[in-house]
Amino acid sequence: MADEFDVFDVIVIGAGPGGYVCAIRAAQLGFKVACIDKRGTPGGTCLNVGCIPSKALLHASHMFSSMHDAEAMGIHAPSLKLDIGKLMAYKQNGIDGNVDGVRFLLKKNKVAEIIGTARLLSTKQGMTEIEVRAGNDTQIMRAKHVVLATGSQVAHLAGVDIDEENIVSSVGALAFDHVPKQLAIIGAGIIGLELGSVWQRLGAQVTVIEYLDRIAPGLDGEMAKQFQRILAKQGIKFKLGQKVVAAKSLKSSVRVMLESVAAGTPEELRADKVLVAIGRKPYSADLGLEALGITRDKSGCIEVDAHFQTKIAGIYAIGDVIKGAMLAHKAEDEGVALAEHLAGKAAHIDYNIIPSVIYTAPEIAWVGRNEEELKQDGIAYRVGKFPFMANGRAKVNHTTDGFVKILADAKTDMILGAHIIGAQAGDLIGELVMAMAFSASAEDVARTCHAHPTLSEALKEAALAVEGRSLHM
Ligand code: NAI
Repeated sequence: MADEFDVFDVIVIGAGPGGYVCAIRAAQLGFKVACIDKRGTPGGTCLNVGCIPSKALLHASHMFSSMHDAEAMGIHAPSLKLDIGKLMAYKQNGIDGNVDGVRFLLKKNKVAEIIGTARLLSTKQGMTEIEVRAGNDTQIMRAKHVVLATGSQVAHLAGVDIDEENIVSSVGALAFDHVPKQLAIIGAGIIGLELGSVWQRLGAQVTVIEYLDRIAPGLDGEMAKQFQRILAKQGIKFKLGQKVVAAKSLKSSVRVMLESVAAGTPEELRADKVLVAIGRKPYSADLGLEALGITRDKSGCIEVDAHFQTKIAGIYAIGDVIKGAMLAHKAEDEGVALAEHLAGKAAHIDYNIIPSVIYTAPEIAWVGRNEEELKQDGIAYRVGKFPFMANGRAKVNHTTDGFVKILADAKTDMILGAHIIGAQAGDLIGELVMAMAFSASAEDVARTCHAHPTLSEALKEAALAVEGRSLHM
C-alpha cells in the first residue's frame, strides 16, 4: 500500500531534456511532481552521453585543429600536444557541472528526484500505479498523470556487434582513451559527421560509409553537397552508396565488409575502431505498456494524441519515444506544452519550425522546408543566397566556408525555409526561426538593421538576394 509520500500529481519517467523540463514546468504550475530515472544522474542521453559531451569534444578538437590556422595570424604554438586524459576530464567536468545544474533546478522547484527503474502496473480510479526498482528495493508510487519520457537508444546493425571497445556506438566514441589511427564510421548522419569531425581533427584517418548516395539525410541537397566538399577538404573520406553487411572485431583491428548498393560489389576495409551511427530508435522496453493497452507504431514509437496522451487516460508520452525529430529541444518543448495542457492552459508547438543543427566546423543549421520538399509539393518559391566569402567578419575570422540560403514563397514572400552552412550557424538560425514564427517575409528580414561587422549580416544579404538586390555581391 502506497503511503502519502508516494502519491504525486505528476510522475515523469525519464530525466532527459524532455522529462526534467516537463517536471520543472509542472512543478512551477503547482503540481506535486516526481521525476524518475535509472541512470543515477539527471539529463538523459543528451547531457550524460550525447549532446553535451560531444559538444565539449567538438569545441576542444576545433581549438586544437584551428591552432594550425593561428600561425597565419602570428600566433606560434610549436609544441602543440594532445593529452587525451585531460581532454576526457574536461569533457566529464562539463557533464558534471550541467548535472549539478539540473539537480539544483529540480530541487529548487521541489521536484522529487527518484533513482530507479520504473514500470507501469495498473490504472484505477483515475490514478496510475507504478513500480520503481533500485537494487533490491521496490517502491510503489501513484499519480494522476504519468509522463513517459524514456528517450531513445542506439539502433543496431545486423552482423555488427557493438562491444564499446573496438566496435562502438556514440557512447564509446565519446570515450576513446587514444586517438584511433583509422576510424571507420557507419552512417553519414549527424552523429557520424560530428564524431568523425572530432577524431579527424585530433589526427585519425576517418572514413564514413553511407548507404545513400549523399550525406546528412534531411538536409537540403545543395547544402549537403557543399557540406561534403568542405568535410572532404578537411580530410574525411566518404564511401557513399555502400552498405555495411558485417564487421568483425579482430585482436587489434576491425574488418568491415561492405557491398555497393547499386551492384552488390563486395569490398573490405580495416580500421582500428568502428563507430555504428545508423540512427536511434525509441526506448520503451519493459515499461509494462502492453499489459495496459498502450500502443506503439511500426517503428516502436508510443502512439499519442494531439495532447500527448496515450491510448490510456492519464498516461502521456513525449520526446524521442514518440514520433518526430529526435532532438532535445523538440522534447523540451513537448514537456512544457504537456505540463501547461495538464494545468488547463493553451499550449502549442509549431513542428514546421523546429531547427536542426550539425555542430561541425563550419556548422550546418536549417529550419523549415528544403528545395526538394518545396519542388515535390509544387510550391513556387524564390531563392536568396549569400556566401560568407563576401561577409567582412567571416573574412577576418578566416571562416569563409559556406553560405546562407533563404527560400521564400514566390507570391507572398513569406519565408518557407532557411539553410546555413557557416561558423556559428547554430546560433544564427535562431533569428530566422523567430522570423518564421512571426510569419515574416524575406523583405522583413532584409529591412531589419543588422549590426556591422557580424556574421548575421549574411542573413540580411540572403534576404535581400531573394529580390535580387544584395548589396555586397
Ligand atoms: P541518422 O538517422 O541521422 O543517420 C544515419 C545514417 O546511417 C543515414 O544516413 C543512413 O542512410 C545510414 N545507414 C543506415 N544503415 C546503414 C548501413 N547498413 N550502411 C551504411 N549506412 C547506413 O542517425 P544518427 O547520426 O545515428 O543520429 C541519430 C539521431 O540522433 C538522429 O535523430 C539525430 O537527429 C539525433 N542527433 C542529433 C544531434 C544534433 O542535433 N546535433 C546530434 C546527435 C544525434
